[in-house]
Amino acid sequence: MKRKEITTVTVIGAGDMGHGIAQAALLGGLIVHLYDTNNTSLQRGVDKINESLEILHRKGKIKAEEMQFCKTNLHPTLNFQEAIESSPFIFEAVPEIVELKRNLYSDMEKIASRNTIFASNTSNMKISEITKDLQYKDRVVGAHFFNPVVLMKLVEVIRGDETSDETMEITYDLCLKMNKTPVRVEKDSPSFIVNRINAPLRVFLGAIVDNEIAQPEEIDALMKFHGEPMGHFELADYVGLDVTYYSCQYRQQVLHQDYIPYKKLTEKVNSGELGKKAGKGFYDWS
Ligand code: CAA
Repeated sequence: MKRKEITTVTVIGAGDMGHGIAQAALLGGLIVHLYDTNNTSLQRGVDKINESLEILHRKGKIKAEEMQFCKTNLHPTLNFQEAIESSPFIFEAVPEIVELKRNLYSDMEKIASRNTIFASNTSNMKISEITKDLQYKDRVVGAHFFNPVVLMKLVEVIRGDETSDETMEITYDLCLKMNKTPVRVEKDSPSFIVNRINAPLRVFLGAIVDNEIAQPEEIDALMKFHGEPMGHFELADYVGLDVTYYSCQYRQQVLHQDYIPYKKLTEKVNSGELGKKAGKGFYDWS
């Protein structure tokens, strides 16, 4: 049987990840409906896409016609019903709070057509945990992109306990169409591959700072010396300390107590120093 070809997608959430996924989809030749709950967040996402397209064009990485295609085919919306009802493929990129995601998927299930695929950009949560309350679990999959989405090629395509082969393959093919390098994660498990590998290191690095053995800047300098593009703390600022915090907390709950968010990270989050987006985190970004 020939698989349906996806030409239109909806992205739920216009934040750092959502706007990046929308942009990657546009650059892959897709029509994109970008939804957020409020105009400020939605407009911020649209502005970031436009800024990034201008950079790519200025650097000769995309032609004027490609940039125009992307701008013409981006449809921002605040209308949830409209965003969901006619879409064949929905990327979800809302904050990493399990109840928030569960409620969203239940709402989407009420509106979406039976064949619509739901792909979660969660960076840690088991897909089966998100789909717990759903009637149709076969059409839900993980599609974990990396920040900044426009530059990072990797996508983890994660099979939930009940994800169908067709859902996996359509998602994998769509990621290829978006010029990404998808890898299949065949068993649903917290943190998948990349964050499973990186998580233990983060615990040790946090302990070095909490024990006042070295400052974040010094650890980052060492990591860059070893060839990393960013050190751990700069990267945490870049992706958002709230995102990093929720990820640690989730791993603590489902994997092991040792993944508890380190003290310095907790302090930063409690004081609203959430990294680049807040102008301050471990570094000053203002
Ligand atoms: N749009 C288009 N182009 C952009 C851009 C944007 N938004 N941002 C930067 N660029 C371009 C720059 O113009 C520059 O282009 P040239 O090389 O042609 O000059 C290039 O990208 C590199 O940018 P910079 O020189 O400004 O900075 P850099 O060399 O430090 O690279 C980086 C930036 C690619 C982000 C690099 O630092 C990097 O790879 N960092 C690590 C990122 C990473 O590991 N991300 C994963 C995070 S974890 C996650 O997302 C998921 C999770 O689970 C939470």
